[in-house]
Amino acid sequence: MKNKAFLITLITILVIQTLLTGCAKSEGSGQNAAASWQTNTSESQTEEAVEETETDTDTVAEDTESTEITEEKEDETMNNTEIPALRDCVPEEMGGALIGCAVTYNELKDPKVFEILTTHFNAVTFGNELKPDCLFGYHNSACPGTEEAELNGETMIVPKLDFSRSEEMLDKIHEYNEANPDRQIKVRGHVLVWHSQTPEWFFHEDYIKTNDYVDKETMNKRLEWYIKTVLEHYTGPDSKYKDMFYGWDVVNEAISDNGGKLRTDAEKSEEKLSEDTHGSNSSWYHVYGSNEFIINAFKYANKYAPDDLMLFYNDYNETNLAKRNGIVELLKAIKENEGPKGEGTRISGMGMQGHYHMDDPSANEVEVSAKAYAEVVGTVQLTELDITASSDYDGSAKAKDEENEKLRKRYNVLYYTLRSLKNTQNVDITGITFWGTADHYSWLQSRSNVGGGNTSGLPQMPLLFDENYEPKPAFFVFAQTTG
Ligand code: GLA
Repeated sequence: MKNKAFLITLITILVIQTLLTGCAKSEGSGQNAAASWQTNTSESQTEEAVEETETDTDTVAEDTESTEITEEKEDETMNNTEIPALRDCVPEEMGGALIGCAVTYNELKDPKVFEILTTHFNAVTFGNELKPDCLFGYHNSACPGTEEAELNGETMIVPKLDFSRSEEMLDKIHEYNEANPDRQIKVRGHVLVWHSQTPEWFFHEDYIKTNDYVDKETMNKRLEWYIKTVLEHYTGPDSKYKDMFYGWDVVNEAISDNGGKLRTDAEKSEEKLSEDTHGSNSSWYHVYGSNEFIINAFKYANKYAPDDLMLFYNDYNETNLAKRNGIVELLKAIKENEGPKGEGTRISGMGMQGHYHMDDPSANEVEVSAKAYAEVVGTVQLTELDITASSDYDGSAKAKDEENEKLRKRYNVLYYTLRSLKNTQNVDITGITFWGTADHYSWLQSRSNVGGGNTSGLPQMPLLFDENYEPKPAFFVFAQTTG
């Protein structure tokens, strides 16, 4: 009973606060108009948010106790409450930062995901569809066929690309953008160069994976051709999609978890490199034996990308000390090679993936890392944010409530940290992207062992919307505004 009164009171406060502040509601916002979810949060964020603006990050990291509220209100206030749209709140709180989510081809076909995307987000990353394996038509075991292409005045033989899956997704968003010019959604290109989800045959003579690896010179041509063709296709002057992209992950995950060195071809020595399309080994490294492919990737991206397309390096475990140092060194190397189009590199920012756990990393580690990256490349974005469940989470209804509350507090601390970095510490954080929309679609569900967190294989609940597409308590952390 006490809990019920508590709940009602807090929701009332949330409603009043939202009405009083400048955060626009989802109602009337474009084609998909209002989100009609009822608020099901167990506690308003208002008091904590106010309280937290007066404390420092470290204090907030420890301060996870809820604020006591005693007033009571009537039940009706719970019904049919319009919820704010994240895209109207987060940019306001974060100096115009983008608020994004990842969606895959199948997820985008789910009308409820599409509604969440178009109501709440102004940026999107495709979960898989702009990765090399998809652009090669998922022909992972053998090259799908070749054709001729021109590169720097020379004719070369290249594998056939298949843009169809990504285009289907882009067309849908393009159509939405045309119909809703004031509520457009921007796209993050993800990713050009990655050791994973890149067919092994791409690195071998005649694109046959049982042949020898090609030499560096040949691989450079393939690298340049791939980056040129992909960037021109989506962002070139004749592309239907040219105005849709705000940035592109040029290189993903090139630093190893072991000591922050460059990821090599021997992360798992027992694995055969040529059968390791999803493993840890890097065939890029195998061909080059150095960071040259990374430097070259940023040179080619600079050469072929429009000047206003942001170019990112993106990595996970990015708050880990040794790995952070390794990433910083790499970013410096990319910066040192900066130069004009066609000659040098260009890098606009660091993508901190943000695949975090309930207890790790600390707010302080996030803060220190964001500052370290910003010091080298200026801009930082959170690009794949999600949070693995606590190690004792067992998936039961009771545990779920508790876990939701933990998640809310975890996101609260994290968001406070990001706002503090942006608004009071001058760290240029220009985007926050969640790796998914509703919990049941999260990539974490299919992982039996997610390092550092829940290793039981039980359901995960890392995102802002639950399996019924309802906003969770954690949603309201980001749907708040101080006006
Ligand atoms: C990495 C990649 C993403 C995605 C996620 C998990 O972080 O950058 O593209 O594969 O893992 O789904």
